[in-house]
Amino acid sequence: MDIDALYKLTHGVYVLGASDNGRPVGSTVDAVMQAANKPVVIALSCHNGSYTKSCIEKSGRFSLSVLGQNVDPFIVADFGFQTSRTADKWKDVPHFIENSLPYLKNCIAVMSCRVIDRQVFESNTLFTAEVTDCRAMADGEPLTYSDYRASFKNEVLKFLPTILNKKENKNG
Ligand SMILES: Cc1cc2nc3c(=O)[nH]c(=O)nc-3n(C[C@H](O)[C@H](O)[C@H](O)COP(=O)(O)O)c2cc1C
Repeated sequence: MDIDALYKLTHGVYVLGASDNGRPVGSTVDAVMQAANKPVVIALSCHNGSYTKSCIEKSGRFSLSVLGQNVDPFIVADFGFQTSRTADKWKDVPHFIENSLPYLKNCIAVMSCRVIDRQVFESNTLFTAEVTDCRAMADGEPLTYSDYRASFKNEVLKFLPTILNKKENKNG
């Protein structure tokens, strides 16, 4: 198997949101696709170590904020390079809460989802979920995972020291 072939499958980049008994949590994800029109169903894959995943399993609900190409790279780093187990990722990010789920203010679309089913693999859990509500938030093209790997990642990585620094301050 040439694993690099898998990078030819590309998706968007999203902020996944969930509620941890009322505390907003979330993570950066790309493994999302629409799986059906009627009802509107999407598939989402979370790695099994993700804290957001464990909150989705408990609550059965999650939100998605679709990132545009003009997204602040800090957002991708904030949600992608630390865990909600210890970090309050939504704190420094403009957001709103609807029905206990957090959404980014600066994104191109939002959706609210209810889990229908779950399949557990060794590395990941695949959720299928019904989109119970969705709306466009702004004009703009979606950031793709391919864009992220090709160039945007360099901008995101610039925020790594800020995030690691925050963690160290918290620990000590
Ligand atoms: C561009 C990008 C794409 C990602 N895609 C996924 C994904 O599809 N599924 C997933 O579980 N984690 C994905 N991650 C990793 C999670 O964002 C990361 O493990 C995060 O720290 C999990 O946080 P949590 O423990 O608060 O859930 C991605 C990270 C980045 C930067």
